Amino acid sequence: MKFNLDKKGGAKVIFTFSDEAKDFRLVKWANEHGFLGKVGEVVYFPNIEGESSFLVGLGNKSELNEENIKLASFNLYKELKNNKESIVSFEMEDFGLCHRKTMMSIYEGLCQGSYNFTKKSSKEEDFELEVNYTPFIRPEGKLEEGLKYIENQMNGVFFARELCNETANVMTPEFLATTVKTNLQPLGVKVTVYEREEIENMGMDAFMSVAMGSDNDPRFIVMEYNGDRSSKFRTGIVGKGITYDSGGYCIKPADSMASMHSDMGGAATVIGTMMAIARSKAKVNVVGIVAACENMISGHAYKTGDIISSMAGKTIEIGNTDAEGRLTLADAVYFATSELKVDRVIDLATLTGAVLVALGEEYTGVLTNNSEFLAELKESAKNAGEKIWELPNDEAYKKLFESKVADLKNTGGRYGGSITAGQFVGCFVDGNTPWVHMDIAGTAYLSKANGYLPERATGVHVKTLYQLLNPMESC
Ligand code: BES
Ligand code: MG
Ligand code: ZN
Repeated sequence: MKFNLDKKGGAKVIFTFSDEAKDFRLVKWANEHGFLGKVGEVVYFPNIEGESSFLVGLGNKSELNEENIKLASFNLYKELKNNKESIVSFEMEDFGLCHRKTMMSIYEGLCQGSYNFTKKSSKEEDFELEVNYTPFIRPEGKLEEGLKYIENQMNGVFFARELCNETANVMTPEFLATTVKTNLQPLGVKVTVYEREEIENMGMDAFMSVAMGSDNDPRFIVMEYNGDRSSKFRTGIVGKGITYDSGGYCIKPADSMASMHSDMGGAATVIGTMMAIARSKAKVNVVGIVAACENMISGHAYKTGDIISSMAGKTIEIGNTDAEGRLTLADAVYFATSELKVDRVIDLATLTGAVLVALGEEYTGVLTNNSEFLAELKESAKNAGEKIWELPNDEAYKKLFESKVADLKNTGGRYGGSITAGQFVGCFVDGNTPWVHMDIAGTAYLSKANGYLPERATGVHVKTLYQLLNPMESC
């Protein structure tokens, strides 16, 4: 997509509010024919002799927000494409919001509209949109900066989606590591990949227990981006990287297994975020960590009842081989906080089916040991338009995953399943390092498109993390 700030021409966009009458003949005509100006309503008026027009509803003006603008622009993109209108023109008036954020929301919405996971069914037609945008105010450089910010963000989001949509016959741990190297190294990210023997030598027994059932060897991937040489402060982002979760000997039913190539959604978000941050040359220090493996069945696989160890030295009784994510995260989070000594850490994981029962596909469930850190993350999530909901990190739940024979058990029973799973991971945070856990099992991979989010992989929270680590001020 080309986004021009100093060019005119193309199909004209007429934004309309449901609570504000517009003195345009087209709008009046549309109103008489049922157009209400609700958020995301789009009507096309072709003009074979001159420029066509699109009426785009933004809902009530008093309730206007960035999310509504994104959704309306997303729908507009779809209509532009359906009607093969490849040049579009915006002549902006003052909506009463930050003019830069308004433009950024339009740009993001259009970008969201352009995403398609088409790799395997190549019927997709080529459509390249050119946008001619005349801003309401034209401050020197500020708008260009805003566009670049969104461009980098969306690159990260789309990269995350592509990784997570890729199926497990292709996306093995090795393939993931290679993809990370090829895409992130040229952007100045230092990528270190540890192979099986090194993983074993580091004492990552919990990670290895999950990994050893597969013929595809695991990879432990560390991505370091140091954009702020003046500071030692560094954030760790850890992503669950199960490239396929069969459940192991506690095998999943066929229906639940079909989409389990997406069990590396957390890893995808971490990698996408690293990409967005590095492309932006942001002044921040971040390290991304992914313990990538498959959870499979074989003569080498781990079994229920096994007692295993972990890098932290804590022993774990295996109550269920399908509760594998928390085992791989235990070692990854411990590595981040004890070896790399990050100053704060966020883990993202498609960890539990229970979070889908609790929050559906709308909200990510989060847990923390530090309310200030979570407050900061919540603010970024809100700005990014990604919904998160806090679960109680109450000590009382911890009795549910006590073991009689080991320090911990990897299952806590059906009740409060997302809380106990998150708390299990939290037990491997070294010291008092501020930690937030994000269970994205419901939000990383959708059974049905939702608003501007597509069916399948969403790349959820690349935007949140990008905005947390590389905030942009309002105008
Ligand atoms: N990868 C799954 C969680 C999941 C479920 C992700 C649905 C996406 C959609 C995870 O490894 C898992 O199997 N969790 C078990 C834990 C249980 C055995 C304690 C679950 O939620 O059933
Ligand atoms: Mg599982
Ligand atoms: Zn899993």
